[in-house]
Amino acid sequence: MEKVVVTGGLGFIGSNFIHQIIQSSDHTRVTNLDYGKSGNAANLRDLRRHPRYRLVKGDLSNPRTCQEVSKNADYIVNFAAETHVDRSIANPGPFLSSNLVGFYNILEACRKSDLQKLVHVSTDEVYGSIDSGSFSEQSPLSPSSPYSATKAAADMLARAWHETYKVPVVIVRCTNNFGPYQHPEKFIPKAILRSLKKMKIPLYGGGGQIRDWTYVEDFCDGISKVLEKGASGEIYNFSSGNEFTNRQVAERIIRHLGVTETAVVDVDDRPGHDFRYSISSVKTRQQLGWQPRHSFDQALGRTVDWYVNNSSWWKPLASAKVLSATPWKQGD
Ligand SMILES: NC(=O)c1ccc[n+]([C@@H]2O[C@H](COP(=O)([O-])OP(=O)(O)OC[C@H]3O[C@@H](n4cnc5c(N)ncnc54)[C@H](O)[C@@H]3O)[C@@H](O)[C@H]2O)c1
Repeated sequence: MEKVVVTGGLGFIGSNFIHQIIQSSDHTRVTNLDYGKSGNAANLRDLRRHPRYRLVKGDLSNPRTCQEVSKNADYIVNFAAETHVDRSIANPGPFLSSNLVGFYNILEACRKSDLQKLVHVSTDEVYGSIDSGSFSEQSPLSPSSPYSATKAAADMLARAWHETYKVPVVIVRCTNNFGPYQHPEKFIPKAILRSLKKMKIPLYGGGGQIRDWTYVEDFCDGISKVLEKGASGEIYNFSSGNEFTNRQVAERIIRHLGVTETAVVDVDDRPGHDFRYSISSVKTRQQLGWQPRHSFDQALGRTVDWYVNNSSWWKPLASAKVLSATPWKQGD
């Protein structure tokens, strides 16, 4: 029976991934290591008593926790990270602890195990901004925020631990994800929830920034393909060709909700705000046979409906501070 350790599985993408692999296999056992600070136990409440799912509450920055949890694993998928760029500007310390020291502890634990594969979940943000064209896996890293700097540094550790110690690590870099269970502090949920509360959607610095959006189920499919066929030491980009300005996304959300009162409001730009992210996933599509299954509008509609129908999930999270228009101005 395959044993998969997922770190950060109480978070947005990790919880979607765990739901997906438990549902799609009748033999995979999942151990989820999460410290539960930025994740949410409610994301996996339905699996609490599932015979093939186990939650270990622990911190990656503790090396012993990483060793214990990795001991008999066949595969590890490392989602765990502090992820909110705005919070990394207000208080970068926890990002170094989770994203860099925590990942170092996982790599060290993997040196001493018989692991088949470690998938490290990175981001398109490590490449920085690009005015035209798209970055490939060979492009240099040029992070702009404390968050993306810690992610880029972790990617460098992954490469070094593969080259030096032969740790079977694969890096995946994806564009912005969206879908159910994403914390209300992130752009799409915040836009939906502020609209539902008849508050305007804040657009940083004019809202002209361009992001390429990937539906979370499509990225989770991709991670399964990497577990199946990804080669150790390789990097795979995941992108969906859904490049929109933040203003266009906000307008689509307002349209899906059919609200009349809500509109957008321009607020100050956040420091170090990259203008456009764009990565090519040609290699991933050719070598792994992956492609997104969902169109942007269909998936955005499903996401909006999920938030409309799951207020008991988001209400405990959606405080005034979380839904604030300029959160990076708040010290933690
Ligand atoms: N959300 C996106 O759009 C996106 C896009 C590309 C890449 N990524 C990457 O995917 C991964 C998951 O992102 P997400 O959006 O699900 O984030 P998230 O913030 O929703 O979840 C991260 C989880 O990691 C846990 N965690 C953090 N530090 C930990 C530690 N020291 N020990 C144990 N658990 C810890 C948190 O409690 C949380 O449950 C991250 O590595 C992120 O960089 C995210």
